[in-house]
Amino acid sequence: MDDETGQAHAGGGDPLAEIEALRTDFEGEAGEVRDAAGLEDVRARYLGRKRGRLTAVFDGMRNLPPESRGAVGRAANDAREAVSARLAEIEADLRDDAATESVALDVTLPGRGDEAGTLHPITLAMEEIVSVFTRMGYKVVGGPEVEHDFYNFEALNIPRDHPARDIQDTLYLGGDWLLRTHTSPVQIRTMQEQEPPLAIIVPGRVYRRDTPDATHTPSFVQCEGLLVDRDITMADLRGTLDHFAKALFGPQTETRLRPGYFPFTEPSAELDANAGDGWIEMVGCGMVHPAVFEAVGYDPQEWQGFAFGMGVDRIAALRYGINDIRIFYENDVRFLRQFAV
Ligand code: PHE
Repeated sequence: MDDETGQAHAGGGDPLAEIEALRTDFEGEAGEVRDAAGLEDVRARYLGRKRGRLTAVFDGMRNLPPESRGAVGRAANDAREAVSARLAEIEADLRDDAATESVALDVTLPGRGDEAGTLHPITLAMEEIVSVFTRMGYKVVGGPEVEHDFYNFEALNIPRDHPARDIQDTLYLGGDWLLRTHTSPVQIRTMQEQEPPLAIIVPGRVYRRDTPDATHTPSFVQCEGLLVDRDITMADLRGTLDHFAKALFGPQTETRLRPGYFPFTEPSAELDANAGDGWIEMVGCGMVHPAVFEAVGYDPQEWQGFAFGMGVDRIAALRYGINDIRIFYENDVRFLRQFAV
């Protein structure tokens, strides 16, 4: 071999000696590979289309006397297999290393600290409301926000042409499906599934075609209540809601019932509360209408009940002295952080 670097032209020297030499050289260089770039360098030096030493051996074969082609061909093929196998092995090792590195734990990194969030004021108010009623034995139930016309209106004694539908306009989703305008449909769903007596409380989100202002948002949160039993009168409703108002706003709180109207209660009323600074409307309520009992298959001669519903946004606003409920939905952390416990 006349070339110091060990490079031999396949056309010159002894191809078998060149194959042996390149295999030794390759082993040495392969052992030095530390990264993907190094691996590609080595691959090019031995198998590269243009400068590969083994490629050169294959290219030179056509100039060999036919009788030595067999032996050189076998040796060259063996070498190519060995080189390819080793390159694949190195590639797999590099990949393993990269994977281990990406999950490696740096124990010297400073900690990230606790970034505890806070409960939303509406959630806080809802938890308070629900807990007053669960302590009286009410069970919490939920229902779908995408509701059928039957549950949201029809079974609640609000037929298609009823004017009460005008003030509870909503998004209609087609095929009599809509975004529920109140939590009252859950009264129907529950009574269809359960036999009386029952007492339920229903927290949930509702939707209405309302233009946002200080006291309206197109989506808001309600809490519904329903109690069905024997010999239930308006006095039970009054006593229950009076207890509720006092639990929420303090024992000095006074309540009064004003006549109201809802198609699914008869008589209907609004409960006002006065905790010291004036009367505020708090809850819509009434005795369950016999037509509603008939819609769910309860006998109105045997069962009586009362129902009530309240806007939780409004109650949260009263509770926390907020004068514009739109701030509840702005997700401004400077506002929300004030409710940290
Ligand atoms: N669903 C009524 C509303 O959204 C409130 C209500 C509930 C009134 C239950 C009476 C009984 O306005």
